[in-house]
Amino acid sequence: MDITDVKTIAIIGAGNMGHQLAVHCALCGFETTCTDVNTETLKKAESFAGSYLKGRVDKGKLSPEEAEKTRGRLLFTSSLKAAVENADYIIEAAVENLATKRKLFSELDMLAPSRAILATNSSRIVSSRIADATKRPEKVCNLHFFNPALVMKLVEVVKGPHCADDTVKVSYQLCEKLGKIPVMLNKEIDGFLLNRMLGALAKEALWLQEMGIASYEDLDKAAVYGAGHPMGPFRLMDLTGIDLEYMMRMEAFRNTGDRNDLPAPSVVERYMKGEYGEKSGRGWYEYGKN
Ligand code: CAA
Repeated sequence: MDITDVKTIAIIGAGNMGHQLAVHCALCGFETTCTDVNTETLKKAESFAGSYLKGRVDKGKLSPEEAEKTRGRLLFTSSLKAAVENADYIIEAAVENLATKRKLFSELDMLAPSRAILATNSSRIVSSRIADATKRPEKVCNLHFFNPALVMKLVEVVKGPHCADDTVKVSYQLCEKLGKIPVMLNKEIDGFLLNRMLGALAKEALWLQEMGIASYEDLDKAAVYGAGHPMGPFRLMDLTGIDLEYMMRMEAFRNTGDRNDLPAPSVVERYMKGEYGEKSGRGWYEYGKN
């Protein structure tokens, strides 16, 4: 497959990452479908697309015609089959759970055209743990975007031992067509590049907070005003989701059996209370309706 063959992109999962990925792909000129097993999540994603595009027009960043064309390129559907049957490139952005992803990939393999590349946007699960659930492992890879996906430029393209050179080449070129800055990982590693770096910072910040050495607010201030980060680790966790932090850490623990990989107690506490961050209105900080 050549990059010029990629015309239709399917986004599986309309949550934190999926809804923005779908809008972004459509904005970049691709016919885009977006699906989710949760109809509420799908409805929210569809309504986000409308309000985001209107906001861009109001801000003078997009012409009304472009907004309309972009909306016309977007299809939200609860049918997985309808979402992928004509797709050239599929980006899975579903829940961070290996068993779910494996089941989903075996379904995608049956429903999608044989030419289609199947990429996972997983935050830390390498694609070699998923690829053998399909009959096209050479066409499965990691394509990891960052939150908020409409804004952040970085994408990690990860080549597993099963990946064909063409798969990663087309994936890399697709990122460029999407106006992103791809980086290439020539070998798989759990957590990839940036989550490993950010994870180290978050782990230390959580420890300092749990030891009562400083408040999370002050630790965020240290990262912003001392290191020039756009937001501190606690505020960032609220943006990406405390539930995601919990699930990623649990997945890491299941892989390694190392207690150091378990989520920090204060993360577990918030996760159990359903305080997931921005999406639930409360995490480390409180968020108003707007
Ligand atoms: N969704 C879509 N667009 C958004 C947005 C959001 N949630 N938040 C901000 N924007 C857009 C704004 O519309 C604005 O766009 P224009 O300039 O084109 O009008 C632009 O971003 C700047 O917004 P603001 O001026 O309101 O805010 P800001 O300058 O403080 O930027 C931010 C907001 C981009 C989120 C910035 O704070 C930032 O870069 N934060 C760090 C984010 C980060 O580290 N992400 C990686 C997380 S790790 C991850 O994602 C890994 C994983 O596996 C989960």
